[in-house]
Amino acid sequence: MSKYITTPIYYVNGEAHIGHAYTTFIADTMARYEKLKGEDTYFLTGTDEHGQKIEESAQKNNKPTQEFADEISASFKNLWDEFEIDYDKFIRTTDADHKRGVQKAFEVMHAKGDIYKDFYEGHYCVSCETFFPETQLEDGEFCPDCGRTTSIIKEESYFFKLSKYEDKLLKHYEENPDFILPRSRANEVINFVKGGLRDLSVTRTSFTWGVQMPESLNDQSHVMYVWLDALLNYITALGYGKDDANMNYWPASTQFVGKDILRFHAIYWPAFLMSLDLPLPKTIGAHGWWTRDGEKMSKSKGNVIAPKVVADAYGVENLRYFMLREVPFGQDGDFSQRAFIDRINSELSNDLGNLLNRIIGMSGKYSEYEIDSVDVQKYHSKELDAMNEALSNLDAFMENLQTHRYLEELWKLFAIGNGAITGYEPWAKMKEGKVDEALATVALVANILAKAAIMLSPVMPKTTATIADALNFEINNDSYKNLILEKNLLKVFNIKKVPPLFPRVDEPLMPEAPVAQPNAPQEDEREEKSVTKEDDNLIEIGQFFETSLKIGIVVEAEEVPKSKKLLKLQVDLGEGNNRQVVAGIREFYSAEDLINTQVCVVANLKPAKLMGMISEGMLLAAKDEDGLCLVRPEKSKKAGTAIG
Ligand code: MSP
Repeated sequence: MSKYITTPIYYVNGEAHIGHAYTTFIADTMARYEKLKGEDTYFLTGTDEHGQKIEESAQKNNKPTQEFADEISASFKNLWDEFEIDYDKFIRTTDADHKRGVQKAFEVMHAKGDIYKDFYEGHYCVSCETFFPETQLEDGEFCPDCGRTTSIIKEESYFFKLSKYEDKLLKHYEENPDFILPRSRANEVINFVKGGLRDLSVTRTSFTWGVQMPESLNDQSHVMYVWLDALLNYITALGYGKDDANMNYWPASTQFVGKDILRFHAIYWPAFLMSLDLPLPKTIGAHGWWTRDGEKMSKSKGNVIAPKVVADAYGVENLRYFMLREVPFGQDGDFSQRAFIDRINSELSNDLGNLLNRIIGMSGKYSEYEIDSVDVQKYHSKELDAMNEALSNLDAFMENLQTHRYLEELWKLFAIGNGAITGYEPWAKMKEGKVDEALATVALVANILAKAAIMLSPVMPKTTATIADALNFEINNDSYKNLILEKNLLKVFNIKKVPPLFPRVDEPLMPEAPVAQPNAPQEDEREEKSVTKEDDNLIEIGQFFETSLKIGIVVEAEEVPKSKKLLKLQVDLGEGNNRQVVAGIREFYSAEDLINTQVCVVANLKPAKLMGMISEGMLLAAKDEDGLCLVRPEKSKKAGTAIG
């Protein structure tokens, strides 16, 4: 049976970040794994280019929308090419074939009676391109997913009869426990569906940047809803609506998504497919979110990690290894240089790299780099059994998307190899004249390395190709069959010397937080700015004084109605008029406690609007796991006293 593996298609409203890289790495690993096993595999990735959000981003960047989409789409594609992502197709939703496919699907759903015209009125979040019922909004106004302000939209719309598929969906989840992985995530989807599905608005009239309606409907005032358009990419990429050239790959085996877009993939997408009379994907694999040093990444915080910067500093394959090893699939993960460096040093450099170096060294010394496996079974049957057991556990881990367990299990091989060298001391055996025994241990370890390299190759393709080269074989489906499935040993071969593969890392290699800006500088400019010198992290004293910090006295304080977080303060900064400061501290301070207390204020921030109220400054505060506290002067100071 063939395999079809997909990533979500990425919005072209900003550059790729580490979360995008993660989805792409897992999907690429899975596709390579299937290809290694000899499965006929198709791997799709691409970009999602329509909708109001993209239109607005292009306007902000003063670019025609198509030109803007072309540029960002190319930046994703170039990045994946540089990272040697082995995709079979990179789809763009602005491709003519895709647009035709979406129109065809719309016609089919319409002909089936699953699409009708009505009016929609609701709270819409442009950023998430989603309507939310009032009951789901935060503080009656803000998007429950991203926190941005929603707006009320009333428009004529075509609707998809999602409600019609409620029972069928529930039945499918029940009968196919692997439809949503990890299984722990299925419950939230099932509960959502059980809560009742409302028909889905699938067209928009408020903007034009989308796939047009099929001509047969004769209603060009609408464009397609971006999620309908986007989800259909998984079949238009295979030729749906054109020539069905690759539709033999459908249904997909694994569709990787982040947990934030699971609902679209586990509810809307299967309902669309049911309407189109197409089979459903075998598995939707929902991964967790990456944080940066424990903090959510966001453009506004400026702590987004650009994958290229990390890859330039540490190597893209080390990054793949780290991300897949660090996080149990489905759970959130944290990116910290410390954790990354620890894994490079202990797992890649010590466990794997040193083992290879030792084998190169010992084989050179004892047998002029010739390895002969003739006596391995005789002296090392125990180690071979343990190795084979670990190898036989691997497939289930990978097929269940548990990459961290897969790698953990694979690392048992290096423990067996290192243990054999320490336990049997081939150098001592050589001294005692037990040459066969010594060479058998070296051959055992060389075989362990060969097998481990094959199984590690989907995660670290280039590095393992070098290991294979050192061991004089090639990683491909033949060697997979021979060494893994049939459990054979490499018979007689010569080892080649290769330079150490994983130099130890002693200091963090990225002095400055690698930040992906919405208007990111050209790649080479960015490299210069962020990965070269240690002192790039430091600022001039003048830069510090650009921020005006002042002592303020809170004169009035009140709670902001309908907000759990905000307090509205009037702060005296010695300027005559008080400043209004809206601060997110209500969970930690009551309004009355603040009156007449001293605070430290950033006094030269551009005024901002928070829940419709102007805020003319920011309070300094410190937050850790025990909560937040305001930063205050040690002794009372006059209002307006400069800090610095
Ligand atoms: N365009 C839609 C997907 C349409 S698929 C038919 C979209 N694009 S996205 O660019 O916003 O996000 C793409 C993927 O990146 C999602 O799977 C999302 O979960 C993932 N991530 C975005 N930020 C992330 C982290 N911080 N960590 C991990 N993955 C995250 O949604």
